[in-house]
This record gives sequence, C-alpha cells and structure tokens, in this order.
Amino acid sequence: MAGSRILVCDPIHDDGVKLLTEAGYIVDLRTSITAPELVEAVGDFDALVVRSQTKVTERVLEAGTKLKAVARAGVGLDNIDLNAAKRLGIIVVNSPEAPSNAVAELVLALMLSLARRIPEADHSMKKGEWIKKVLTGIELKGRTLGIIGFGRIGYQLAKKAGALGMRVLTYDVVIEKLMEFVEEAGAVAVDLDELLGSSDFVTVHVPLLPQTKHMIGAKELSVMKDGAYLINVARGGVVDEEALRKALVSGKLAGAALDVYEEEPPWDNSLTGLQNVVSLPHIGAATVEAQRANSTIVAEKLIKILG
Ligand code: MLT
Repeated sequence: MAGSRILVCDPIHDDGVKLLTEAGYIVDLRTSITAPELVEAVGDFDALVVRSQTKVTERVLEAGTKLKAVARAGVGLDNIDLNAAKRLGIIVVNSPEAPSNAVAELVLALMLSLARRIPEADHSMKKGEWIKKVLTGIELKGRTLGIIGFGRIGYQLAKKAGALGMRVLTYDVVIEKLMEFVEEAGAVAVDLDELLGSSDFVTVHVPLLPQTKHMIGAKELSVMKDGAYLINVARGGVVDEEALRKALVSGKLAGAALDVYEEEPPWDNSLTGLQNVVSLPHIGAATVEAQRANSTIVAEKLIKILG
C-alpha cells in the first residue's frame, strides 16, 4: 500500500530505493543502525531491507509488530531467523538470481589466481623481487573442476569452466531434479566421494544449513586428490577451517581460495595468513551489476507484497 514504511538497514544500490519511492512508499535509509536501535525502531515499519550485515533476530521480528516482509538483497538467508519469521507470518524474500554471474566469475578468477600464483607473484613484485623461476603454475585446460551444489552459480560456473577446456563434475543432494541443467551445462553428475577424489579444483556452492555445516571436514579433505585446490565462496561454516588449515600446512592440498569465513572478519590469520591461501573479504557479489540487480529485484518483490 502506498504510504507503507520501509526501513533499509544495509547499503543497497540506489535503483532499488528509487523503485520503492516511486511506488509511493516512505523509505528510511539507516544503514549504520545498531542492533538495539533496530529493535527500538522496527515497530514503525511495514518492511525491512537488509544485506548480510544486519542480523534479523527473533527479537527484531517480535518487535516489528507491523512487519509484513523482510527483504534480503542477496542470496544467503543465514542472518534472518526464518523460523521466527514463519511463526509470526512475516514473508521473507531474497534475490538469489542476482549475483550468480558475479560469483561464478569470481570462482574463475580464484582458480586462475591459484593456478598461476598471481597474488604471490604480485606480492613478490611489490617487494622488488624477480622470482620468475619459482612461480611456475599449472593450466586450467584439461583439469577437472568439482562443483558441490548445482544451483544457479554452479550452472553458470560449469558453462564457463567448460569453455576453458575443463572437465566438470558436480554433486548435489537433489541432482535428479537438476539433470536437464547439468547436461545443458556440459557437467557430469557424480557422488560426493567421486567428485572429491577426481577433481583438481573443488568449489562449494551450498547454503549454510545444519545439514551443510562442516560438510567439508577432515574426512572429505582426506578423500581429495593430493595437491588439489579448494575454493569456498559460499559460507564459512560449510568448510571446517581447522581441518582445512591442517590440510594446507601438511601439503595435502596445494592451496585454497576463500571469500567467506566461519567468523567475519576472521578473528585471526592462521588460515588467511598461509602462503598457499588466497583470501578475500566476502566480495563474491560485490559488482555494480549484482548489487543493482539485488536491489531492484527485492524492491519489485516488496512492491508485490505490500501492494
Ligand atoms: C549473498 O549471500 O548474497 C552473498 O554472500 C553476498 C553477501 O552476503 O553480501
């Protein structure tokens, strides 16, 4: 309904805000709102818009006596108490379609970074070194990529990796329903152990749920090929960081690339500080295109809900 009030708690692209104001809603941008301030303020609003920073807890939802919807501009819903939202009849929407290409491109960038040791080479140049002989890498062409979780990102990535001449394996708990897309993307569906044992690069693309917590742990890492690489741009808790650190220090894995961590920012650099780790500050969806799409898609979904 025009006149509904929407609180935007994390920065989103202006285009989504414009859509909401043009639809007649009153939009409050309070992108540095603290948790106690949110609990105090939320009672005045019909909808919230958040990214990953704001935690939409049971307390926030219960204080939101007028709340009809919470919009997450992005994919992961792990910062929203979905059970409480369901109990209170508050609709939760997100924009999983928005950042797929951005994330798939980032995985390619990380594979190339690991394969050609680009961050290491850049570091050495900045230190004034010329260590050309030390920096021999590998090529992606002919290597096997294992994609765990074949959603939108997995599909885009499979197509891009295939175009680079990689063989693509995939595993998903609901793979039977996805076979049309698996085949279209030129991937081959296998079980998890086969994927782990046959891939030169393994990348995870599953949400963080109780069932996926530490789904890549010591056992799974031990099944991986010696000298393989692990990439995690999904959620920190999906990979057991201590088990990964051990696999990297022992030389079982040649390297890893991480965009996400069990705690963000990570509380120490025992993993990110390793020489064979490329680490980024959760920038998978941080492109102009993905942020614009995140913001306009959730704005359109809110307009449908609020009327
Ligand atoms: C997402 O879930 O949309 C991405 O991880 C990006 C983010 O959380 O900022």
